[in-house]
Amino acid sequence: MSALPSAKALIPFVSVENMMRLVHHLGIERVLSELTDTIEDDFRRWESFDKTSRIASHSRDGVIELMPTSDGEIYGFKYVNGHPKNMAAGLQTVTAFGLLADVATGYPVLLTEMTLLTALRTAATSAMAARHLAPEGTRVMAMIGNGAQAEFQALAMKAVLGITEIRLYDIDRRATEKTLRNLAGCGLALQACESAEQAIEGAGIITTCTADKQYATILTDNMIGSGVHINAIGGDCPGKTELHRDILLRADTFVEYPPQTRIEGEIQQMAPDYPVTELWKVVRGEKLGRRDARQITLFDSVGFAVEDFSALRYVRAALAGTDFFQQIDIIADPDDPRDLFGMLQRAAA
Ligand SMILES: NC(=O)c1ccc[n+]([C@@H]2O[C@H](COP(=O)([O-])OP(=O)(O)OC[C@H]3O[C@@H](n4cnc5c(N)ncnc54)[C@H](O)[C@@H]3O)[C@@H](O)[C@H]2O)c1
Repeated sequence: MSALPSAKALIPFVSVENMMRLVHHLGIERVLSELTDTIEDDFRRWESFDKTSRIASHSRDGVIELMPTSDGEIYGFKYVNGHPKNMAAGLQTVTAFGLLADVATGYPVLLTEMTLLTALRTAATSAMAARHLAPEGTRVMAMIGNGAQAEFQALAMKAVLGITEIRLYDIDRRATEKTLRNLAGCGLALQACESAEQAIEGAGIITTCTADKQYATILTDNMIGSGVHINAIGGDCPGKTELHRDILLRADTFVEYPPQTRIEGEIQQMAPDYPVTELWKVVRGEKLGRRDARQITLFDSVGFAVEDFSALRYVRAALAGTDFFQQIDIIADPDDPRDLFGMLQRAAA
């Protein structure tokens, strides 16, 4: 018996280290732009996906979720957590990993870290939405909440929309200082602000990306002038929102998958018949995105499985011809497919 696993047992595994090598090899702004296009391509073929709200296991401290989907040829899922209290213990709020499998055989074809990839895909999804919803010619974005996702959001908006200035605010000054340091020299004008009000002055896009397991009010109605686009990232769980509901009464709201967003998004504060527009219909040209210069648009982002699928298939394609992965033997592969026990038994010899 060979001590080495057969080729059928092996699948590519992308560690955090290799994901970082891949992103540096390609360049982060290129990755964000290409991911934006990949996600948009998948939103354009929305009907070909299996869609289900993510499976969430809630606890007092946070949530652990599984996010599956399939396009009939490839199946994918992501494991992800959301624990706002982790930060105080020196842990991250969000961590993730994911897998792609071949639908025809059920065999996995890729296993990868997705903590970095989630930040990239969330930023790319925001940029895709903003491409259809942000006011024409916007160059300034307010970034409220300067945690793990912040730089990714800023760079995606730069790469995809041509944003040139970011106005930063966080209740923790150290988070803003970290973001200023990380984005220095990347070609964005950066301004640290003393309040959310100051940050949104003159901004055409307002991104809220805070983490708090409660109904928070990061933005109130009186702060929001006409014509802005709100990219609301942090309200993504039952009982966890960022916007005062009066803003939703004035805004046109765009969502990923309504059954999931009605449970998890800002619109959990609204009646079940509160009108929303599905983003995929805007991408397909079936529904209007931004209608006029005065309209307030809101992307009520919660994160949907199709975006992770897009990110996974992007990484799989990008790995071709590189060594940014290891082969791991994740599938038991007995010589006779029915002789699984024999394989185990022979291994003792
Ligand atoms: N929609 C999506 O697809 C998606 C994807 C990933 C993460 N998220 C959510 O985005 C949020 C941010 O994630 P992260 O990984 O950057 O978290 P993080 O914990 O790294 O950062 C959150 C930041 O928000 C700040 N903050 C908290 N309350 C604030 C307030 N009232 N005003 C200003 N700043 C405040 C904190 O000080 C912290 O710096 C989380 O709620 C997370 O669940 C959403």
